[in-house]
Amino acid sequence: MEAQPAMIEVRNLWKSFGETVAVQDVSFDVRKGEVLGFLGPNAAGKTTTMRILTCYLSADRGEARVGGYDVFEESLEVRRRVGYLPESAPLYMDQGVVECLEFVSELRGIPGRERASRIRRMVEVCGLGDVMHKTIGQLSRGFRQRVGLALSLVHDPDILVLDEPTSGLDPNQIVEIRDLIRRIGREKTVILSTHILPEVQVTCDRVIIIDRGKLVASGTPEELASRQGGGTSIHVEIQGPQEEVESALRGLAGVTSVSWKAAKRADRHCYVLKASDGETLTEEVFRLAVRRNWVLSKLSAEKASLEEVFSALTSRE
Ligand SMILES: Nc1ncnc2c1ncn2[C@@H]1O[C@H](COP(=O)(O)OP(=O)(O)OP(=O)(O)O)[C@@H](O)[C@H]1O
Ligand SMILES: [Mg+2]
Repeated sequence: MEAQPAMIEVRNLWKSFGETVAVQDVSFDVRKGEVLGFLGPNAAGKTTTMRILTCYLSADRGEARVGGYDVFEESLEVRRRVGYLPESAPLYMDQGVVECLEFVSELRGIPGRERASRIRRMVEVCGLGDVMHKTIGQLSRGFRQRVGLALSLVHDPDILVLDEPTSGLDPNQIVEIRDLIRRIGREKTVILSTHILPEVQVTCDRVIIIDRGKLVASGTPEELASRQGGGTSIHVEIQGPQEEVESALRGLAGVTSVSWKAAKRADRHCYVLKASDGETLTEEVFRLAVRRNWVLSKLSAEKASLEEVFSALTSRE
C-alpha cells in the first residue's frame, strides 16, 4: 500500500460562496487502490470539495490534482479518468434507462462495438434489469440513484468520486453496492461521502472528517476510534438502590464517567460507564455487584465507535 502513488492530491484548498467559507485550507491524499470515506455533518463542505475534484467548480485558492492532472489546467484529462456520482444526478426524465446509458457511453467516447456489452455489464452490476425499459421519470428514487451510479461507472474510470452513493437505496442494494465499491477499490481509487457511519467501517480503508469546511481528522476507522480517548463504554444493568449503585460505580478505579440511562423497573437501572481500560473494569463491576449483593443483569463492553468520534469532533456545542 505504501508504495502506491497518490491519485488524488489536495493541497490547501479554499472555496467561498459570498460570506460562506465552504472549504478552508483542506489538504489530503488518496492513494491508488484506496477507498477513502469523506465524512462530515450537513454543510461541512463535502460536495463542494468533490465538485472541485471533478472540475464542476473552481476553487479560490490551493491545488488539486487527480490522476496526476491539475483540475484547473487539465480538466479534460481529469474528466476522462474520473467517474462522478453527483449528490443529485442530473437525469433527463423522458429518457429511457438504456437510452440514457447509451447517451453517456457515447459522450464518454466508448467505441460503438463495446457499448452494448458495457451497458449490459452496468445493468447487471447496478441491478437495473427490471427497469431497463422504463423512462427515468418512471423510476423510484433508489432506482434513479442506481442509474446515476451506472453512469459514473460506464467508462470504467480509474478514479471514482461518489457523493453519497448509497443514499436512497434499500438495505439489500446497499450491501451490493458496498461490495461493488470494495471490489472496485482494490484496483482503483475511490472517494465517497456518506452519512452512514457503519458503512465506512466496512467499506473504507481510510477516513477524513471535515467540519465547517475544515479538516478535523484523518486515519483508518480503527485509528480514529481509538484516538478518541481510546475509550470503552461499559453497559451495566444493576438491581439495587440507584444512588448507592451510582456512587459505587463512580468510585471504581479507571472510571471516567457514569451516566444513568434508564430504569427497567423501580430498582433496576441501566448505566453507561466510560473507561480507559474496559477489560479490568468489567471485572471490577462484577466484583462490586457480588460484594454488595446486587443482581447484575447485564454487563457488556463496547469499544468507542466511529459515531462517537464523529459526534465528539463535529458537535456544535
Ligand atoms: N452554489 C452554492 N452557492 C452558495 N452556497 C453554497 C453553494 N454550494 C454550497 N454552498 C454552501 O457551502 C457550504 C458547504 O456545502 P456542501 O454542499 O459542500 O456541504 P456537504 O458537506 O456536502 O453537506 P451535505 O452533507 O448536506 O450534503 C454550505 O454552507 C452550503 O450552503
Ligand atoms: Mg453534500
